Amino acid sequence: MYRSHTCGELRMANSKKEITLSGWVQTIRKFGSITFVDIRDRYGITQLLFSESLNTQLDANPLGREFVLQVKGIVQERSNKNAHIPTGEIEIAVAEFTILNKSAVPPFSIQDDTDGGDELRMKYRFLDLRRNIVKKNLELRYAVGRSTRNYLHENDFMDIETPFLIKSTPEGARDFVVPSRMNPGQFYALPQSPQTFKQLLMVSGYDRYYQIVKCFRDEDLRADRQPEFTQIDCEMSFVEQEDILNMFEGLVKRIFKDVKNINYTEVVERMTWEDAMWQYGNDKPDIRFEIKIANLKFPQHAFQNKEPLFDSEFFNIPPLGGGGAETVLAIAIPGCSEYTRKQTDELTEWVKRPQIGMKGLVFIKCNADGSFKSSLDKFYDAEKLKAIAAATNAKAGDLILILAGGEERTRKATSDLRMYMADKLSMRKTDEFKLLWVLDFPLFEYAEDDNRWVARHHPFTSPKPDHINIMINNNPAIENAAKYLEHPYAGIKANAYDMVLNGNEIGGGSIRIFQRALQEKMFAALGMDAEEQQHKFGFLLGAFEYGAPPHGGLAFGFDRLCAILGGSESIRDFIAFPKNNSGRDVMLDAPSTIDAKQFEELQIKLDLKG
Ligand code: AMO
Repeated sequence: MYRSHTCGELRMANSKKEITLSGWVQTIRKFGSITFVDIRDRYGITQLLFSESLNTQLDANPLGREFVLQVKGIVQERSNKNAHIPTGEIEIAVAEFTILNKSAVPPFSIQDDTDGGDELRMKYRFLDLRRNIVKKNLELRYAVGRSTRNYLHENDFMDIETPFLIKSTPEGARDFVVPSRMNPGQFYALPQSPQTFKQLLMVSGYDRYYQIVKCFRDEDLRADRQPEFTQIDCEMSFVEQEDILNMFEGLVKRIFKDVKNINYTEVVERMTWEDAMWQYGNDKPDIRFEIKIANLKFPQHAFQNKEPLFDSEFFNIPPLGGGGAETVLAIAIPGCSEYTRKQTDELTEWVKRPQIGMKGLVFIKCNADGSFKSSLDKFYDAEKLKAIAAATNAKAGDLILILAGGEERTRKATSDLRMYMADKLSMRKTDEFKLLWVLDFPLFEYAEDDNRWVARHHPFTSPKPDHINIMINNNPAIENAAKYLEHPYAGIKANAYDMVLNGNEIGGGSIRIFQRALQEKMFAALGMDAEEQQHKFGFLLGAFEYGAPPHGGLAFGFDRLCAILGGSESIRDFIAFPKNNSGRDVMLDAPSTIDAKQFEELQIKLDLKG
């Protein structure tokens, strides 16, 4: 028997008991003729006391960090108690010990505050995973998974696996492809998500499906993106948007309760995409804090339902681009009217950094006595400054920050500045959670890089019910629809929704198209002719002819959800074996070349360009 107890289990109640423990050596402290060793396993740490009588044996068989050790001994009360660990009241008086395995000196220390850098820890991820802090993340991930499965099971969802070797599923990223030996010259794609399969399962009658499933996307990586990541993927039949929103806010609330012991009793806020863009400058606003963007000037196509606040003459002053700026946006930061010159200069430098890319920053300080002090004083009288303060909802004591420039960049910069200021003022607390549904996304968006219209969510998303007719009845010449407003479908809204948690998109989905005619229309609107539709999606169009039920669903980013619940925005720490920012597994050294024999079997000859 290797162990009678774990290293996290023993307490004063076990005093005088004879026990056996196995684990890894955390620390060794020699005091004269006695030695203290901390032994660690998944469950905790226990102090071992090697008395004088064992010292010759210890000298002959010295212990080292991370050695695998087995000890037999008696539980006894410690003289020097440690209130920070659950086993801190006891220690084991070791009677005999066996070194089960030695360890090389670990390349970094296995403790919360480690000295190992990111790459080193990823190379030795199996050691990094021994660290308590990383283990806690994986435990949280497991708890989120368990809670999810329980909730979905209780609600009649069935877990059904779908294949990984498939044909391309368009979710907006590039596919990872796998060559087929048995079909030379042909390739499988790894699923970007099980999207089409779950829809086929609805056609098959499995009206509540879920899967916690790997998805693969060849896209640029960031802290919240990995090339392979996990989704909680769900689909339901005979549902409307409202049913889906209710079911899945239920899921997230359940996870909050099970994993964080939080009773999220508030109504989950809802916001249209247009309002999110209008008020927060992005489609995943962090609404834990109040600051909203005032759109002082904007191109009319950006918000079709909004009226400009000022005429364009108002902005014809040099600090705001001399009237040439497409967009002028402002935010009022609470309590910062007394910022010094140094502080405002620092903010100006911040917005001028290449990542933000603005030319400058304009300030209005709203003094406590109701007066204003501004970098616009030369150009604007008190009336005009007051009008801006009113538009931004600024109060006495606030600092108004104004950015001007091209539409997209200015909107992004203002949104980033809003977050930056909120971080500075500690308004984004990791232990506070605020959910939000963003609704009514545009069905299409214009991809500047490719010079074409694409589906904003994916091509299986249904337009909003009152917009379906516009699509069915119009037959626009899509190829010529070069720019935003000229596109007859530009105003069509999708029956799509994203769930946002603390400013992160944790999930997204839609009500689907389930009639062949509308699906064909959608593919055509994306520039696919009948032949291409048949080649790429013949299976789905065919299935829609055999009694496809109305259906819809969504997928949560499982890694993201875990990271946010764990108080982090980096998903890597919540994945047992993650990739680095260049998509490499530095532990396996993958991707790597393959043998000549493998190429031969695949009948592939490598001819790398460049
Ligand atoms: P979508 O593409 O929005 O929808 O993905 C759903 C959620 O998955 C997470 N996510 C990622 N997480 C980590 N790394 C990535 N590279 C990554 N990409 C996406 C996000 C996102 O909200 N089939 C549809 C869902 C549906 O319509 O039902 C889909 O995949 O949190």
